[in-house]
Amino acid sequence: MRNPGGGKVVAAIDQGTTSTRCILFDRDGHRRGMSQMEHRQIMPKPGWVEHDAVEIWRNTRRVIADVMAEEEWSTADVAALGITNQRETTIVWDRATGEPVHNAIVWQDTRTDGICKKLRDDVGEDRVRRITGLPVSTYFSGPKISWILDNVEGARDRAERGELIFGTVDTWLTWNLTRRHGKALHVTDVTNASRTLLMNLETLEWDPALCEAMGIPMSMLPAIVSSSQYLGVVRWQGPLHNVAIGGILGDQQAATFGQACLEPGEAKNTYGTGNFLLLNTGTVAQRSDHGLITTVAYRIGEDLPVYALEGSIAVTGSLIQWLRDNLGLIPDAPSVEKLAKSVDDNGGCYIVPAFSGLLAPHWRPDARGVIVGLTRYINKGHIARAALEATAFQTREVVEAMNKDSGVSLTTLRVDGGMVANDLLMQFQSDILGVPVTRPVITETTALGAAYAAGLTVGFWESTDEIRAMWREDVTFTPDMDADRRDDLFANWGKAVTRTLDWVDD
Ligand SMILES: Nc1ncnc2c1ncn2[C@@H]1O[C@H](COP(=O)(O)OP(=O)(O)OP(=O)(O)O)[C@@H](O)[C@H]1O
Ligand SMILES: [Mg+2]
Repeated sequence: MRNPGGGKVVAAIDQGTTSTRCILFDRDGHRRGMSQMEHRQIMPKPGWVEHDAVEIWRNTRRVIADVMAEEEWSTADVAALGITNQRETTIVWDRATGEPVHNAIVWQDTRTDGICKKLRDDVGEDRVRRITGLPVSTYFSGPKISWILDNVEGARDRAERGELIFGTVDTWLTWNLTRRHGKALHVTDVTNASRTLLMNLETLEWDPALCEAMGIPMSMLPAIVSSSQYLGVVRWQGPLHNVAIGGILGDQQAATFGQACLEPGEAKNTYGTGNFLLLNTGTVAQRSDHGLITTVAYRIGEDLPVYALEGSIAVTGSLIQWLRDNLGLIPDAPSVEKLAKSVDDNGGCYIVPAFSGLLAPHWRPDARGVIVGLTRYINKGHIARAALEATAFQTREVVEAMNKDSGVSLTTLRVDGGMVANDLLMQFQSDILGVPVTRPVITETTALGAAYAAGLTVGFWESTDEIRAMWREDVTFTPDMDADRRDDLFANWGKAVTRTLDWVDD
């Protein structure tokens, strides 16, 4: 299926937590078209977050059709398709009908707390971490599968009979894109598999003992493939019919790839719905002693897998959406910058957005959000500022953990994602870290990374050297705050974090 010179662009589907995008990239890594659609966030109870998987597949078809129609691209123009996705979000569906048995349970959802407690008792936190590189947390997929099998009537029996299958969103989309005459590819890539709590991080295979502990029949699980390899062609009778699917990566790993963090020691931080800092540790699965997780960064074909240390923060950009949607404080996300600029500082106000507990480096499911330091003086400008600063403070917590784990101090931070358009935030980030923050020209690195992975497979790009050479700096923010003030602010933040803990009782 090699296609050197055959196509003009590579297509990437970026199926995120809030929206689905299809983006076309040319050989220089320039964006040649993009279509985007948001989908519903379904929140049946506090702490529960669901998506309609059927809506996601419908939106995916729509954005593909839309981007292809934009400049009348033909199928022959597209050298390959790459897929990247919100990670951990869990779908179980009927392999014959394609119908999901329940809404997708989203990574932010905390309903599996009880299942996680049981897993800690039955298997042990340390053992799970040794096998998977992950702490036992509601964040990951395995317990979500378990919950569906326990709570949807008849699901466990059907799963045991082999009728139901599981997938993260990459798997769901690949299955639907390749489905024809009762056959479909049921695969996931190593990066997505490494987020399930079911994969052995060293062998890159499903772990039978963990599957058993969570009551998950192994027949439900997809085959684990590399991040960059030929998988098959699109069978869906749409505008990408017969295009080769050449790569799959979880969104944060895709952004790492798109930022060309391809050597050990290189790191990026993505500012989207949440924040995710990944440090490439090469072919060593380095374990964390400071609250980070060990994950697969990518695997190209038959090469050894490349690992990363990751600091995952659940709520950053979604706090800005909360100001917009729940408080009505701003008409749109970018307006938060102007509002924050209406004041000189946070006025002593701190927001810790522990909406679904705290992830890295705390891992505290019992935490809930707080706004502290309120006085009669505080106005909406201070709230906007505190919301932006929360992102920077949480990032500093993760960077400190990363420095301790790796034994080297980060010297500069490469950033991307929707929030990095916010100059006030970027400057404050640099101030609070005390290191330069560098924004590249292309901040759509998630889709770009998936495009790179697929393009490498079909020879659209020859090598990772070519990818590295395409990375371009846009602007660097340098620290401009004295050390005492930096320390004071961060100490206050630490105090604010303590106020979130022990909130939710069993
Ligand atoms: N100028 C801005 N200032 C602050 N936050 C912003 C700004 N523009 C966008 N955001 C926030 O950034 C997020 C969107 O970024 P991005 O498009 O990278 O998200 P995403 O994580 O890719 O979404 P998904 O989770 O669907 O993948 C939103 O949460 C939005 O609130
Ligand atoms: Mg995204």
